[in-house]
Amino acid sequence: MKIVVVGGCGHVGLPLAVALANSSHNVVAFDISVGAVKDVNSGKAPFWEPGLDDALIEARSKAFTASLDPEVIEAASIVIVVIGTPIDSHLNPDPTAVLIAIEGICKHLKDHQLLILRSTVFPGVTEQVEKLLVQRSLKTCVVFCPERIAEGFAMNELYQLPQIIGARQDLDFNRAKEVFDCLGIESVRTTPEEAELAKLFTNTWRYIKFAAANQFWMMANDSGISFENVRDAIRYKYPRASDFPGAGFTAGPCLYKDTMQLSAFSNNTFALGNSAMMINEGLPLYLVEKISKKFDLPSLKVGILGMSFKGESDDNRSSLAYKLKRILKFKAEQVLTCDPYVTVDNELLDQDYVLENSDILIIASPHRRYKDIISKKPIIDIWNLRGNGSSV
Ligand SMILES: NC(=O)c1ccc[n+]([C@@H]2O[C@H](COP(=O)([O-])OP(=O)(O)OC[C@H]3O[C@@H](n4cnc5c(N)ncnc54)[C@H](O)[C@@H]3O)[C@@H](O)[C@H]2O)c1
Repeated sequence: MKIVVVGGCGHVGLPLAVALANSSHNVVAFDISVGAVKDVNSGKAPFWEPGLDDALIEARSKAFTASLDPEVIEAASIVIVVIGTPIDSHLNPDPTAVLIAIEGICKHLKDHQLLILRSTVFPGVTEQVEKLLVQRSLKTCVVFCPERIAEGFAMNELYQLPQIIGARQDLDFNRAKEVFDCLGIESVRTTPEEAELAKLFTNTWRYIKFAAANQFWMMANDSGISFENVRDAIRYKYPRASDFPGAGFTAGPCLYKDTMQLSAFSNNTFALGNSAMMINEGLPLYLVEKISKKFDLPSLKVGILGMSFKGESDDNRSSLAYKLKRILKFKAEQVLTCDPYVTVDNELLDQDYVLENSDILIIASPHRRYKDIISKKPIIDIWNLRGNGSSV
């Protein structure tokens, strides 16, 4: 099958394109990022994802390629669209991102093609894409197939997670299923509208669970009670609480943004989602407030360990470590930051320098290497990464 992945050099597009290429499909990644296309064609992923570099080299040996030329779309039977869909600078979801991208490629689309929408979208976008294609006199069929991988696990989860396929027609469902069958995964059929909500519910569900844990952590912390002892007691041989998360910064390019989309979709009546956003986004402020009660922040140099939004990742998009940094820059004498993975922040310092020159350290991203740091300075660790408790 000849497949073009639009946005195929991104965090989600590239792992999928490579996995499909290595599973007997003929795949081209079309992208507008000159740097990313260059990286991919030189056999190097533009970002860190375990297992991706090796899989990319294998795919390159099977004629997988990346291109800046939208004309590559014309030869495909399947076109998968997985461009980024961020919220705007005023925190509004932008339901037009996918539509604008598709407008841009419309003249290369053909009637016989199946268009698989894979970006996470505001509910109703699939229908709008269908209308756009009709306006352009195209008979291209559309399905919505959300991506549910987590960064850092892509090259395993692509071969494990069932694929939700939101299709109106049996034929479209079967064509989309054939694409994903080669990954050895099951397909689950819904309508496009159900699939759009399924993706937003999936991420929002996780976001709310993390918010509950963070709120419980704040409650325990305010009362001088060990959150870890409570959580351990609850989870001990009690499977119903096995998914009770620990505390920590809940951030990144998806969970917050998708909760925001659902909030906008429900006309801002989504009380639970709105509360979760306040709790998770408010955690850096809470933390600084607590630290400033114990330490004389204006006279202290604060070292932040880890700037990516999650452990063992180079992705610092929407990372709460930067919110923490902003607040501390206002309150502390100086803020020093480091991260072993992030490559796109020129203010980062060497870890040893930060350890030596800070008066107090805060673990903002739970990279495993911080478990064993030896320092006489106070280390704030709300993740309890070091096993010494998370109280502040
Ligand atoms: N990152 C995740 O863990 C994750 C997981 C599941 C779903 N998603 C969803 O997948 C989508 C993509 O997210 P991402 O993290 O991969 O974003 P990304 O920014 O890493 O990748 C998007 C890619 O699309 C390219 N692009 C943008 N506009 C384009 C256009 N008009 N034509 C061709 N290429 C274009 C960009 O250059 C980039 O390479 C989003 O909707 C996101 O919500 C992300």
